[in-house]
Amino acid sequence: MPALNSGLAQGDGYTIVERASLAGRNTFRVPARAELLIDVRKPAALAELFGYAALKTQPLLVLGEGSNVLFTRDWPGVVLSIAARGIAVPEDRGDAARVRVEAGENWNDFVRWSLAHGFAGLENLVLIPGTVGAAPIQNIGAYGIEVRQFIAAVEAWDRREARLVRLDNADCAFGYRDSRFKRERERYVVTAVEFELPRERALRLDYAGVREELAALGIDEPTPSNVAEAVARLRTRKLPDPAVIGNAGSFFKNPIVAAGLAERLRREHPQLQAWPTEDGGAKLSAAWLIESLGFKGAREGDAGVSERHALVLVNHGSASGAELWALAERIRGRVRECYDVVLEAEPLIV
Ligand code: EPU
Repeated sequence: MPALNSGLAQGDGYTIVERASLAGRNTFRVPARAELLIDVRKPAALAELFGYAALKTQPLLVLGEGSNVLFTRDWPGVVLSIAARGIAVPEDRGDAARVRVEAGENWNDFVRWSLAHGFAGLENLVLIPGTVGAAPIQNIGAYGIEVRQFIAAVEAWDRREARLVRLDNADCAFGYRDSRFKRERERYVVTAVEFELPRERALRLDYAGVREELAALGIDEPTPSNVAEAVARLRTRKLPDPAVIGNAGSFFKNPIVAAGLAERLRREHPQLQAWPTEDGGAKLSAAWLIESLGFKGAREGDAGVSERHALVLVNHGSASGAELWALAERIRGRVRECYDVVLEAEPLIV
């Protein structure tokens, strides 16, 4: 590894900073440091980097735009950020195409690119923060669509095999806000994603508010771009903007519970929204559970729950990650006590 005389080193396709601040690298904007922060512009550099002792022995964290992580402490090892850019169309069959996107591209920019190039499918996923490389890790989803529906394959550096591998959709083991990459975080570093994008596709308009928003825009025969516009308006109204107030989107997953518990809760609380799951259980609205306990807009110092959406924790200014986590724990405790439901955090908690 190049000598870090000034705490900074350059290699071919990467930059290393020692004891680096991560405050500007997480959308909660909480202070934290990494022993080593490595920005990788060329994935080919990974072979060299993973040959170094520091990357073999120290804990590794891969960070995109930091929009799905909460640092409650410093990272005692290496933080790797894949900054590779580029969108290519290796195969175009007219009605659909294969599109390869490097991991460091911004997700929303890519959605806009896909719409501008006449592709359909990603319109409901507009304005989700983060990078393309992060999208498969938690299988991002919104307004009735999940990204796994359009992923043909994911390319990743496999630390166990010490080479680039290509996992097709089935190998990625996608689930609700879940994937193999999330379960085997230490093993894979996503370097690129291959999408299979159709040029025409039935639009998904049935999810909460999309049709109403299109009607408000005066559109009755929507195009994919119209749907993106409607979703963008919904999101802007409902979710706090991380550029304005620190947050990482939904802080908890919507809990999946057994049919019996769901039925009992729905009987006692008819307003509680629940969606049936394939195995006969139900996915409950975590936002409703949290709001019903009076947490919406709650604040402990600078750690708070958004007043716009009960599922989003926010940093009003100088909250630490530990303070935000303490608030999250208090919410989890109350939800468990009152509803017998265990909430799981959605972002990675360090
Ligand atoms: N609700 C409340 N209080 C609130 C907000 C919502 O009671 O403050 C209830 C309402 O009944 C509403 C229902 O919760 O109808 C569902 O709310 P919403 O449509 O906002 O969706 P969500 O289930 O809370 C999920 C995703 C979001 C995604 C939206 C829209 C998860 C964990 N979150 O939220 O994803 O944008 O659906 O599809 O699945 C994210 O993952 O970071 C994220 C923002």
